[in-house]
Amino acid sequence: MWIKESLKELIKDKLKDYTFVVASNREPYIHKFNREKITYFRPASGVVTALDPVLQACNGLWVAHGSGDADKKVVDANDCIQVPPDDPKYTLKRIWMNKAEEAGYYYGFSNEALWPLCHIVYTKPKFSAEDWKYYQLINERFANAILAEIGNKEAFIFLQDYHLTLVPKLIKQANPKAKIALFWHIPWPNPEVFRICPWKNEILEGLLGADLLGFHIHYHADNFMETINHNLEAKVNKVTSTVTYQGTETIVRPYPISIDYEKIFKEASSQAVASDIDKVKEELGITSELIGVGTDRIDYTKGITEKFEAINLFLEKYPEFQGRLVYIQIGSLSRIHLETYKKLNDDINSLVERINWKYSSDNWSPIIFIRKYFTPQQLLAIYRMANICLVSSLHDGLNLVAKEFVAASSEDKGMLVLSKFTGAAHELTDAVTFNPYNPEECAKAIKQALTMPEKERKSRMEKMKANVAENNIYHWSAEIIQALLRLS
Ligand code: UDP
Ligand code: G6P
Repeated sequence: MWIKESLKELIKDKLKDYTFVVASNREPYIHKFNREKITYFRPASGVVTALDPVLQACNGLWVAHGSGDADKKVVDANDCIQVPPDDPKYTLKRIWMNKAEEAGYYYGFSNEALWPLCHIVYTKPKFSAEDWKYYQLINERFANAILAEIGNKEAFIFLQDYHLTLVPKLIKQANPKAKIALFWHIPWPNPEVFRICPWKNEILEGLLGADLLGFHIHYHADNFMETINHNLEAKVNKVTSTVTYQGTETIVRPYPISIDYEKIFKEASSQAVASDIDKVKEELGITSELIGVGTDRIDYTKGITEKFEAINLFLEKYPEFQGRLVYIQIGSLSRIHLETYKKLNDDINSLVERINWKYSSDNWSPIIFIRKYFTPQQLLAIYRMANICLVSSLHDGLNLVAKEFVAASSEDKGMLVLSKFTGAAHELTDAVTFNPYNPEECAKAIKQALTMPEKERKSRMEKMKANVAENNIYHWSAEIIQALLRLS
């Protein structure tokens, strides 16, 4: 079993001659002005949750967009800062963009074109030539920032996600000695869906600059290889899971991302978290005997309105739970400058109001919706007191919240109710699963989880805990690093 120490050993042993660089759009620590003072926080992002412990273990360099209004104030002359700010373990190098660049590259091409293209939830992608121009420009900026660090030395480059599809080819052309992995954190659709992208070939060619492309599940890796088959004159070998294009080979594999199980498990069972539970209950005015929880960025792929409709149906179908179950939804605001996200936020507000109005009695309302960012530690107390965690994504690469809940939840209660359309559902097969497009099925799944015989509940949770404990984030990193090492 991989643990933090064994990953450290692997890196010390095998990567000592390499520069180790990670790049993603989202930075792991954001500095903000809070009146006169500068504070920092960790953003809500699966990418950050997964990669931060890896970087802490290997003292590497992380290159990312400096998106906080105080970010520039705290970096050195090389745009770097040591993080975590309170206990430095690695270097964060920030790259900058102006408003027009951020609008075109991040809000535009990344999140209005690629995000809806890859998540099949029937939101039409918006393809704009202007956004594409900015996307190319910022990908070049990322590539240049990485090349400035590695020069023509041997280096391991780990790129994260759909914001950076053009970077692998740009780096490979400038430094063929660089070993490049890109991890695709979202689903990859089938070729029929992907073919509508006007710049599909540029994106595919950009990605094939990588030595290794990682997806969460087999299905997405297969979709990618099929997409190559349909669009490029490349040799796709399904047996070896490789693509050869213009003389270079790319390995295409599933590596389901994960969490630092041990850390979450230990913290969640600590006395500090136990005493937070009462504080949180008091703060939120919770007196109900049964508690449900959900944590999501407010994103239309997360099925938040579908989940609330299912809770509405659940209370209608099984009135004996009225007054007994309270559902806490933590929703952190996301990509709020985009109209679709703004509208979703408004729709959620009205829906929660409607459902709460319908059922609430003197001192009980079924849904508590908290629209603020919670620190990972605060989340643990909420997971710990919950009987169910409801993850309702309509389509999700993985969904780390599902794994976090499994690690944190109490042995005495706690059951995961999980959408079939998350990557996590492929691993967490002992969860109660449902189709989020079918409120009847979701309502039944909630009932099943809340009334499951104790022995069965315990046994299912134990199996899921064991699975996440073994397939933890250190296992994920080690698998990818070893695959890259085999290439050398
Ligand atoms: N998260 C958080 N605070 C919040 C909401 C989310 O720390 O208020 C974290 C959550 O615990 C998880 C990550 O953000 O680690 C979200 O990852 P996931 O893969 O579930 O979804 P994503 O938002 O990346 O699509
Ligand atoms: C998803 C994406 C990540 C992204 C995260 C948060 O998990 O795959 O790349 O960082 O959402 O979204 P944001 O746009 O705030 O970075």
